[in-house]
Amino acid sequence: MPMNSTESFAPKIVAFCCNWCSYAGADLAGSSRLAYPADVKIIKVPCSCRVNPMFILRAFEKGADGVIICGCHPGDCHYSTGNYYARRRMTLLFSMLEYIGIEKDRVRVEWVSAAEAVKFSETMNSFVLQIKNLGENVRLGDLRCKS
Ligand code: FES
Repeated sequence: MPMNSTESFAPKIVAFCCNWCSYAGADLAGSSRLAYPADVKIIKVPCSCRVNPMFILRAFEKGADGVIICGCHPGDCHYSTGNYYARRRMTLLFSMLEYIGIEKDRVRVEWVSAAEAVKFSETMNSFVLQIKNLGENVRLGDLRCKS
């Protein structure tokens, strides 16, 4: 039976995860054998506030179809207020994405604690499905160096 385009498309996802909560949640998901797509590439950052909006645009330029930023829950950041800064920056990024023509649904911010392996797995699965429905990110295609 032929696969339709949504089934055959494997989106490239970049996940920025803060070291203290979300990366630990991803680790727990792995050791608990909770599945999430292998196309999710995790980049560990000290805190979600380390993610400069330019990192996200750079990921799109390099071929990512979706980018997700995961951090500690509000009030739980190990640097007190880092995730509040991240949230504000991402709000600004969302309006900039619309301006340059990238669907803002290609970027998501989620708070995942170290104990929330199930939430991490479910979040990644739902985000990959969301990006599959959006299709390949072609907006910055002219800047990409595809093989
Ligand atoms: Fe996790 Fe700041 S340390 S969001």
